Amino acid sequence: MTDTLRTGRSHPHPEPISGASYSAAELMPGNRRVALLDQRLLPTIERYELISRCSDVATAIKTMVVRGAPAIGVTAAYGLVLAAGEAQGTADFMAHMRAAAAELLATRPTASNLAHAVRAMLALAETIRDESVSDRCTRLADAAREYHAADVAACKRMGELGARAMPDEGVILTHCNAGALATGGYGSALGVIRAARAAGKRVRVIACETRPLLQGARLTAWELSRDLIPVTIITDSMVAQLMRKGGVHACVVGADRIARSGDVANKIGTYSIACLAKAHQIPFDVAAPWSTVDLACVDGTFIPIEERDPREVTHPSHGDTTLSIAPEGVTAMNPAFDVTPASLIRAIYTERGVVSPVGPEALAKLALLGS
Ligand code: MRU
Repeated sequence: MTDTLRTGRSHPHPEPISGASYSAAELMPGNRRVALLDQRLLPTIERYELISRCSDVATAIKTMVVRGAPAIGVTAAYGLVLAAGEAQGTADFMAHMRAAAAELLATRPTASNLAHAVRAMLALAETIRDESVSDRCTRLADAAREYHAADVAACKRMGELGARAMPDEGVILTHCNAGALATGGYGSALGVIRAARAAGKRVRVIACETRPLLQGARLTAWELSRDLIPVTIITDSMVAQLMRKGGVHACVVGADRIARSGDVANKIGTYSIACLAKAHQIPFDVAAPWSTVDLACVDGTFIPIEERDPREVTHPSHGDTTLSIAPEGVTAMNPAFDVTPASLIRAIYTERGVVSPVGPEALAKLALLGS
């Protein structure tokens, strides 16, 4: 069952982990409900869903109430806290938790952070399987909140590292939304931009609108304008012309999965921007927490790419309004992500350090630092 609460601009959680006035996901006091900001409604309506069942958390991830790889990981961790509460009366706690985990894992296949969070929570569940229901819930809730706080800290660290490489003045292009809404808080790519501004750099942002779901136009522009960071939206097809005219000085994006080779899966359209950046000698950087790195995945060809409903392309919708923009019966393609080869990326900023040159050696070195 999902309760929906209209909260205007106020957060339903008294003390959000992110410390900001909004956040993608929070576990409410008492550990029985997860608050999710419904990102499908932004920028026009700021509304939180209060969810009390793990399977509703899975649905919220699938339908993109919450999205962005690190935010999906945090949300899944909170979902497993609800699952532990639902285990009251079940004979086999771990069978129940594994089934809940499988449902969460099936929602969005590309985001590495989802599996990372689910693995961590299941490993903890295993060690506390013989404790009381209430102790299990408390332990899992503490761990999920720690996971969330660690993601915010990771964003701040990678922000600092990335900010150093940003120009003192100029235009940074970003794609999709890799901000506070897509993470535990602060943001990965937008964390770099926030940190650059905090360091006094006079950077402005170009946000690609990001067809078909418009995360750039709706979410990145919303976040940045709340922070008074100058942002201009362009359609995705304007990038080449803008770069040729000298209107972009650096690019920074987030990531959904980073393979051992350094190849990066991110929102569809990222690869074209990286190719264009190369052609115009503009640095192209990625910011992502270590939970996005999947060393078991050899290279980009092994990254699973989510295919979404073609109606997202042919029938864009916002709130209750749906437009039909293609002839009836004509189908469309809708891969949600693409893969940018390591060779096109100048640097990857993680909380463990900077991966540059981007490739298996630099990633392997950071892997040795452990978590
Ligand atoms: O389909 P989405 O909106 O979940 O895609 C999000 C992205 O591609 C982000 O760039 C990525 O998850 C990194 S978010 C810090």
